[in-house]
Amino acid sequence: MANNILKGKRGIIFGALDSKSIAWKVAEHAHAEGAKFVLTNAPIALRMGTINVLAEKTNSVVIPADATNMEDLTALYKGAMKELGGKIDFVLHSIGMSVNVRKGKAYYEQNYDWTIKGYDVSALSFHKTMQAAWDLDALNEWGSVLGLSYIAAQRVFHTYNDMADNKAVLESIARSFGYHYGLRRNVRVNTISQSPTDTTAGSGVSGFDGFYRFANDLSPLGNASADDCADYCISLFSDYTKKVTMQNLFHDGGFSFTGMSETAMDSYLKIMEDERKDKK
Ligand SMILES: NC(=O)c1ccc[n+]([C@@H]2O[C@H](COP(=O)([O-])OP(=O)(O)OC[C@H]3O[C@@H](n4cnc5c(N)ncnc54)[C@H](O)[C@@H]3O)[C@@H](O)[C@H]2O)c1
Repeated sequence: MANNILKGKRGIIFGALDSKSIAWKVAEHAHAEGAKFVLTNAPIALRMGTINVLAEKTNSVVIPADATNMEDLTALYKGAMKELGGKIDFVLHSIGMSVNVRKGKAYYEQNYDWTIKGYDVSALSFHKTMQAAWDLDALNEWGSVLGLSYIAAQRVFHTYNDMADNKAVLESIARSFGYHYGLRRNVRVNTISQSPTDTTAGSGVSGFDGFYRFANDLSPLGNASADDCADYCISLFSDYTKKVTMQNLFHDGGFSFTGMSETAMDSYLKIMEDERKDKK
């Protein structure tokens, strides 16, 4: 389906850990659409993951950077501009991590050191990736910056924990930086609110399989896959979406605006019928 719509564009893609990662799919699709880009991830993730396979496949280089560290980010932009031969047209921030979630702490029993770490990695790093670019004037006119969010920013998903707060801040940063970068360089900044997706970060949330099934049952189009998400990202990096900015864009098969569906209702009716039978 590739149409070369990113031909001539230079990008930086954060967050490809393994072949399930949303960022991995975005890199594959961006390559197919003619973009040149640098891949990046935290140094520890580079040791654990398989990013070099992706780099080879997409003819790109890997520059390590901890997205919470401004020195790393500055070196990343400088390295990327040198490697790609000019300023950057698109940035994908596909990063998330909560220590509280990882360690099984509930929302009401947070370890605040872990909360602050998760906030820095999952939300503030989005601001840092843009401020580092701003300081170097590293983004081209009509560039596009994207972060990935989840609907727990608006509605409660009981085990999503402090990541819900981080996503709310992430979306707010997209609006605020989108305003300033829009004025300065016509750069657009958006977040995509993606369906539950079977990745390392996604499946780390307790009850992930239930969230996935519930969302799929409620969505008229079914859950959006990582590949679907990559297609949407490509459209937002392309010149076809130049005036879309400061938005949180739901990419979830219709989940966010569905109150009840036939499939979900059938499941409840079945449970109620079973309960009635048990009572007899
Ligand atoms: N999987 C889902 O269900 C789902 C749904 C909606 C949104 N998202 C969001 O999509 C994004 C990508 O997650 P994914 O599902 O592809 O999982 P993933 O685990 O493959 O990707 C998360 C990435 O964050 C990177 N990362 C963590 N700390 C970092 C740091 N300090 N510096 C740089 N990178 C760091 C990890 O190394 C990893 O590559 C996240 O923001 C996630 O919250 C995921």
